[in-house]
Amino acid sequence: MTLTVVGHGYVGLVTACVFADFGNTVYVIGRNEKKINELRKGNPLIYEPGLKEILQRNLQAKRIFFRLDYTSVSQSEIVFIAVGTPPKENGEADLSGVFEVSEKIAKNLSKKNDHFTVISCKSTVPVGTNKQIEKIIKNHTPKRVNFAVASCPEFLREGSAISDTLNADRVVIGSESKKAIEILLELHKPIEGKKIVTDLSSAELIKYTANAMLATKVSFANFISFFCEKTGADIETVLDAVGLDKRIGRVFMSPGVGFGGSCLPKDVMALISTGKKLNIDVSFLEAVVKINSQAKKNFLKKILSNHQGKNLAIWGLAFKPNTDDIRFAPSLFIIEKLLENDFQLTVYDQQALLNVKKIFKDKIRYTKDPYQAIKEKDGLVILTEWNEFRQVDLNRVRSLLKKPVIFDGRNLYQISTMKKLGFYYYSVGRS
Ligand code: UDX
Repeated sequence: MTLTVVGHGYVGLVTACVFADFGNTVYVIGRNEKKINELRKGNPLIYEPGLKEILQRNLQAKRIFFRLDYTSVSQSEIVFIAVGTPPKENGEADLSGVFEVSEKIAKNLSKKNDHFTVISCKSTVPVGTNKQIEKIIKNHTPKRVNFAVASCPEFLREGSAISDTLNADRVVIGSESKKAIEILLELHKPIEGKKIVTDLSSAELIKYTANAMLATKVSFANFISFFCEKTGADIETVLDAVGLDKRIGRVFMSPGVGFGGSCLPKDVMALISTGKKLNIDVSFLEAVVKINSQAKKNFLKKILSNHQGKNLAIWGLAFKPNTDDIRFAPSLFIIEKLLENDFQLTVYDQQALLNVKKIFKDKIRYTKDPYQAIKEKDGLVILTEWNEFRQVDLNRVRSLLKKPVIFDGRNLYQISTMKKLGFYYYSVGRS
């Protein structure tokens, strides 16, 4: 098949690369010439394991092409919209990018009698948006153009985006057009996972429900960790035991400094905003957001009340491991607040240093070596659970630090080990 993907962020580029790898011809549209030129050279512009290799392989095979114009739309059987839907000040999803792109797609659709185009939104959009996309397209094309819209939400996680796409738990296809559904089912044939065919609204809501549920699980774990800290109970033991109940499970229940990233915070806010418009009581979801911010504040309070000096190192800046993404990362909040309290900070992260530097510039120090970061410091703060921190040489850490104090926002180490090594060790939900 011939496809066009508008947008080359995590969702757009991963989708394009995976479908090109299956043998399809894929055109990717962007609007920044410099970025498009980099992509043409095989630079994915973001750090995502395996993405560079799959991109370069398909560039070489001439199955993926990067464009600034929309001419490929008229040759495509499917056009995916994968542009950002960032939160507005009031939490509502900003759909201006999606609508702008829809108009451009409309103006470039094939007018041939025998050509049918599926326009499918991969971006996370509130219920009803695909209907609006359909209206925009109808308003900008002659009547005889054959097209249908379909919602095909994406569930990939950053850091494991390619394998999540290839081994999806499910593929959701929502449309009122049988033909569009057939075409999308054919495209997704090589992808593992149950195919759920449904209507547009259900498909749109499935995505928000999934992200709201994931955010709820994290906030629930953090909520129980507050009880553990007040009572001396151990959160990991509590969750391990509770998680053995098959109805509950243990996955996505790690307590810590809260959820961040480009999806969970934004999508929960957007669902709250949709709920308010529909006159639904959204206090449940508001509590999920409140607990998330409480988790960050509690952790900060731990540092402010227990530090033994103001010269600290921070390990881990990305909102999660295996990415350079710092959107809504808990590290941004913690750094900002520590700076307000006159701390001197030296930070280390495998991938996210440059992105953090763009925000904090020379207000903090940056290092490419985790051991260098902690040398002569009054303590270490851990904010992202990169694998490289799990089995560090803790004796070396102890000897490099001026004060053996660790604030661990991801519960990486055993309390008993840390005690034995003589650390003052503060983690989440464990005394
Ligand atoms: C999420 C969804 O998982 C994915 O399906 C959707 O398509 C996009 O949004 P992503 O934002 O990449 O993916 O990361 P995810 O792994 O879900 O983690 C989100 C945040 O929650 C991270 O900050 C992570 O540290 C935090 N988290 C996750 C926890 O604090 N505890 C957990 O148990 C799990």
